[in-house]
Amino acid sequence: MTESPDLNIALVGCGTVGTGVVRILQASQESLRQRTGRSLRLQQVVVRNIGKQRDVDLGTIPVSDDIQTVVDDPQIHVVVHVVGGISPAREDVTRLLQAGKDVITANKALLYAHGAELFALAGRLKRTICFEAAVAGGIPIISAVNTALTGNRIISIEAILNGTSNFILTRMFDRRETYDEVLAEAQARGYAEADPAMDVDGTDAAQKLSILTQLAYGTRVPLEDIVRQGIQQIELLDLLVAAELGYRVKLLATSRLSGERLEVSVQPTLVRANRAIGMTSGADNIISIEGDAVGLMRLSGAGAGQMPTASAVLADVVDYATGRAAITFQSILRLQHQRPVMLQPQEELSRRYYLRFTVADRPHVLADIADILGRHEISISSVRQDETDDVLDESGVARLVIMTHRTTEGRLRTADQEIAALSSVRGDRIRMPIAD
Ligand code: HSE
Repeated sequence: MTESPDLNIALVGCGTVGTGVVRILQASQESLRQRTGRSLRLQQVVVRNIGKQRDVDLGTIPVSDDIQTVVDDPQIHVVVHVVGGISPAREDVTRLLQAGKDVITANKALLYAHGAELFALAGRLKRTICFEAAVAGGIPIISAVNTALTGNRIISIEAILNGTSNFILTRMFDRRETYDEVLAEAQARGYAEADPAMDVDGTDAAQKLSILTQLAYGTRVPLEDIVRQGIQQIELLDLLVAAELGYRVKLLATSRLSGERLEVSVQPTLVRANRAIGMTSGADNIISIEGDAVGLMRLSGAGAGQMPTASAVLADVVDYATGRAAITFQSILRLQHQRPVMLQPQEELSRRYYLRFTVADRPHVLADIADILGRHEISISSVRQDETDDVLDESGVARLVIMTHRTTEGRLRTADQEIAALSSVRGDRIRMPIAD
């Protein structure tokens, strides 16, 4: 499409993020014009429910509940598509590209599941897809990986990529609030996905890590190849014990070269309290990325929420308006021809671990668990159990925390199955790697 002085934008979705986008477009019109040399004009808005009250004034901008109005409008250059979920987002983006529109999306679930297909389509049609807001909210990590760090071989990415789960873990620890109370507040603040299960079970972070891994290493990692655990079973006790030992618990997303193989995981992890990742609190995200030339660098900030995510969308709008986005997208397409890095089998990931068991408070229980660990060559580094009440029948339980020396995920999984089968083991068993 030929560049005109006006950039005609359509917005599909006017929920939390869409509303933020409208606010910035309205508030920063003049500075955006100076930056881009173009007037950014919001020409159409498409929403699911036209009658819904919105906390932004759309003035005279036409609002429709049918995306066809955008598809059919030859004046629209670029569509900001901020609708979650896979369907109808996938069909919408396909139709928009086919109609000659470029697309800015914040939808990581869509990119994770159908990015390859949509990028290929965009490539064939000479269209552009921008997606800064899809990973880590307001933090410009997509831009960093796609442009500023391209002179590097990426050695590792260690990150907190889900604001909701970080908010939950931080508040549980700082204020001793329960998991359910904090989750409800994360939803009220607009951090959580429509289905917050994806935030707390590690799916959202794993989708974002998969997108980053593909950009950084050229390797597509499906969710089933990511060692993945959520935070649902973490209790205050785990956070307190970790703190006593000098750690914070974080839902850590890691993509790391180990020799020539890539280790990829999303797991609640014990991180040293004095490391930047350990100190990242609330809904903030952080990405600690190591390149062979740049060394270790970190980007941190708001990883979720209306205005930070809208800020990332606007970065795409500006990149698009100046023509930078099209150049970057072409280089992303060329990445597909890069030889991917092979994945390390999950069983071979090697770390130290925190293990927590709830067990019957009776003789030989600790010995049985230690025996199983020992037979699998898992060496214990420390054992912690608080004194329990002097209950001598089967109703007494003890909480046992074991820290191990370095071992493999495979050994630990096998040992865990044997431990689970012990009649003395009750309820959840927690297993968290330790990142030193
Ligand atoms: N639900 C996501 C989070 C929002 O909590 O990080 C940003 O993708």
